[in-house]
Amino acid sequence: MGNLRVAVAGVTGAVGQEILQVLESRQFPVGELVPLASPRSRGKKLRFRGEDVEVRVLDSDSLQGVDLALFSAGSSTSKKFAPVAVARGAVVVDNSSAFRYESEVPLVVPEVNPGAVQKHQGIIANPNCTTIVMVVAIAPIHQLSSIRRIVASTYQAASGAGAKGMDALVRELEGAGAPSSCAPDSPFPHRLAGNLVPRIDDVQENGYTKEEMKMVWETQKIMGLKEDIPISATCVRVPVERAHSESVQVTTEDALSLDDIRAAINAAPGVTVLDDPRQDHYPTPLDISGKDSVVVGRIRRHPIEPNTYDLWIVGDQIRKGAALNAVQIAEQVFC
Ligand code: A2P
Repeated sequence: MGNLRVAVAGVTGAVGQEILQVLESRQFPVGELVPLASPRSRGKKLRFRGEDVEVRVLDSDSLQGVDLALFSAGSSTSKKFAPVAVARGAVVVDNSSAFRYESEVPLVVPEVNPGAVQKHQGIIANPNCTTIVMVVAIAPIHQLSSIRRIVASTYQAASGAGAKGMDALVRELEGAGAPSSCAPDSPFPHRLAGNLVPRIDDVQENGYTKEEMKMVWETQKIMGLKEDIPISATCVRVPVERAHSESVQVTTEDALSLDDIRAAINAAPGVTVLDDPRQDHYPTPLDISGKDSVVVGRIRRHPIEPNTYDLWIVGDQIRKGAALNAVQIAEQVFC
């Protein structure tokens, strides 16, 4: 066993729970786990490496002596406590959007921009789940020929809204609430079962939602794309439990063959091709749930638009979209 003192802030949440599983399965060198959540969870017992661990309240004292703090307890909690953890000597990997756009904070997907980690000054940001899933899949194409335009439509799972989101969907599927209304305590603005909700996060002045603009800002930062390269997204919540699907169109500088695109994606880390639609071989969110890899199918060349390709990309939102990516970042720092 290793000797790092590792705090997981938000350990009772959907991502926090997944972080424990990923730390365990990847044999991350945890000497001591410090499981942290809100006062609501004080004393709650969780399992880690076959033993019970007791949840403590996230406060300044609980961050004392921590080497690594993995934060997944929402933006305001990160803003308040991530700087405290850094002041106490920890490296923070933050899953919220609190620091993603600060120039001195690296925003990292280890398969895409691993070198960015080195510039950290205590805090490293884990990107938005939808962005992670997309960039892992399109970075190999960008390596073949520079991307000049991206248009994305997303089909995002309930897990993106945390444990409450998944719980609301499950209860609605079981028949909770009136047929057209949300389950009690649902974080969604409309019933999700049997429905599609085309708004995720706040609507911005330009009419796009914050989730859609996160895909723009974060893709630029991670892939080093110039701001004049057009990127646009439409983000939709769908009644799926935990894997995100994305229809993504990319335009490249040069013409590419579909075989070259498939080979580049298959050769890249963290992503594979499953693309034989006549045999019904393409990724679906049910099949990809619980998997580490992002999977790409339905790879097509646009019939008219030059150098333009359509892809169907699926990745587990809680795993690669959050917990796994965060632990991979920590591995870059400590392993
Ligand atoms: P708790 O379970 O005690 O409320 P999810 O996104 O799946 O809903 O999970 C959110 C996580 O963030 C939970 O572990 C939750 O703890 C934690 N959390 C929320 N607010 C705070 C807070 N103010 N301080 C510490 N942890 C918090």
